[in-house]
Parts: sequence; structure tokens; C-alpha cells
Amino acid sequence: MARRCYGSTSVVAFLMVCAALVSVINVGQLSVFLRTKRHTAYGPDTGLYSIGYTLRGNLSMESCQAVPDSLVGKLNIDLGAALKSPTPSKHQDMLPGGAWSPKSCVSRQRISIIIPFRDRQAHLDILVYNLVPVLKRQKVAFRIFVVEQFGNKTFNKGRLMNIGFTEARKHDEFDCFIFHDVDLIPEDDRNMYTCSDNPRHMSPALDKFNYTMLYKSLVGGVLSFRDKHFTKVNGYSNLYWGWGAEDDDMHKRLSASKLSVERPSITIGRYTMIKHDKKDVSSVRLSLLKTSTTRYLKDGLNTLEYKLVETRLEKLWTRIIANVGDPPKNQTENPL
Ligand code: BGC
Repeated sequence: MARRCYGSTSVVAFLMVCAALVSVINVGQLSVFLRTKRHTAYGPDTGLYSIGYTLRGNLSMESCQAVPDSLVGKLNIDLGAALKSPTPSKHQDMLPGGAWSPKSCVSRQRISIIIPFRDRQAHLDILVYNLVPVLKRQKVAFRIFVVEQFGNKTFNKGRLMNIGFTEARKHDEFDCFIFHDVDLIPEDDRNMYTCSDNPRHMSPALDKFNYTMLYKSLVGGVLSFRDKHFTKVNGYSNLYWGWGAEDDDMHKRLSASKLSVERPSITIGRYTMIKHDKKDVSSVRLSLLKTSTTRYLKDGLNTLEYKLVETRLEKLWTRIIANVGDPPKNQTENPL
């Protein structure tokens, strides 16, 4: 930004350009970012079209506490509240595109929340309404990416998560990527939205299953990764169309890459699942699973293909709309 301002021909023009930029960005957060121009985004909801920002923070401040005093522990989830009171008015301190950073300290990590999405706007509103206050109390710098599948072909969650990871890295340097189902609401803010030394399955205990872990290798729901770990497992498989097993395939990738999975205890790693119908269950998912270990290095981030339809900086998230392609007419067990 500075370079652009200096490029203005007169002092008056310089001041006017800077004032205009300041006015479209929440002034309270100015110290936080405005460092680089990394990306051009387009969107009807924002006046901010071509300014990149980074969640690096004001490095002259102290690091935030690893476990901040602001945590409250177990939460009372009211799923209806989000629909009664619109979230944006509560979060004026967020930057367009759904980013926030603590003002009183420097967040230890910059996290990217990646939500694969289609047709579940009410669920997204409920999640964000509940999740954002948790992240703020945890004092983590975050940016939310909603990765929406374009069109109405069978859903491919694995591709969307790979796209989220690929696109998020174009916007900022993140320390941690958290893949988050849109229908899971955290019940305890001690479940930190940060990355540890190993990938962490943050949602072992769902209300739907009476807060017990369904099976030992479960990694579905909410899963956090360091960049190097997600790259090491080659991301998610691109081959699972329809509901089920892309997460089980991820567990096999983790094991094959010799990465162990951490979990919070089942008293803290609790989530409420928003009820919905399960549709389009994949018929080949179990056969595909059989070949994940031999296939994973040639099916994932390194073979991901998609067409970016639009990136929109909306108030509470960056919406990435992508065309993930069409499912094969007759999917075989292992098309590779
Ligand atoms: C599916 C997973 C899912 C799990 C819990 C398994 O049968 O393969 O994708 O996360 O059930 O619902």
C-alpha cells in the first residue's frame, strides 16, 4: 500500500488515496495487516476489491497466551439464536473476507478455517455465529474460507477441501489449516483452534453419537493440519463423489505417511451436529478405500483440477466458488 501511496503525484492526492483506503478497512485493525498485495478479489458485498492483507499481527506486541484467560469452557449452544439475530452486526471488527486478529497481543498462529459447502446457508450462519466468538476468546488470528461447489453435480468434499487449502495459501501465509464440516458446532472453547505437532482430529465426540467416538480411526468432522503435513499426505483424495469415506481415506493417508493423529479428550472435543438428511451416498466408497494406500501419492493435491469461478470477500468469510468437474459416469473402484 505504501508504495502505491508514494506513487501519487501530489501530497493532496496521496492523502486522499490513503484516507479512502483507511475508510474501507476497519480502522481498529489497521495496525494488524495491510502489508502486501497478494490477491485480487471481486465481490458485491465489499468495497475492497484489490487489497490483500495478512494476519501477521503487530509484532511489537507480546504473544497471546497459549491458553487465554478469556476462555469460558463448556458452552450452551442455542442453534436457533443465529437465525434470530444476524451475526454481521456483532462482528464489526472483522475484516472483509472473514478475518480477525486479536488487538491486545500477537496470535501464536494464523489459522485458516476451510468449510466445504453447498446449499446449507442456514447451517453456515449457525456455525459462524457460534464459532467466531470461540475463536476470539481463544485469541487466534483467523480467516474463514467457505469453499462452495459450483453447479448441482454430485458433491465432492475432498476436492473442495483441497481447493480451500490451495486458494487460502494465495491469500495469506497460514500456520494451520482446519477443515471444518458446516454442521458441527463446538461445545467447549477449551478445544483450541490451533495446530499441534501432529494433525489433530478436533471432533471426536458428537452429540449425535452420545459423545462417544464411533470408531478408532475416525478423522471426519473437524481436522487440523500444518501445511507440511497436509502436503505430505497429498491432501484429500479427489475421487470420492457423494457422501462418505473421504475422511476414512485421509486416515489411511496419515497412517501411510507415518503421521499420528492427536485428539482432545471426549469431554472437551464435543460438538453439536445440526440435523440434516444424508443424500447421495457414494456406492463405490468402500471399494475405493481398499486402494487408498497405494493410490494416495497420485491422487490428491498434485492431481487437483478445478476452475475457480469466483472469489468473494463477504463480511464473515471469503467465499470461493469452484467448478470441481463432473463425476465419472461409471466410477470403478480405482480409476487410476
Ligand atoms: C463414513 C465417514 C463418516 C463416518 C461418520 C463412515 O461410515 O465413511 O465418512 O465420517 O461414517 O458418520
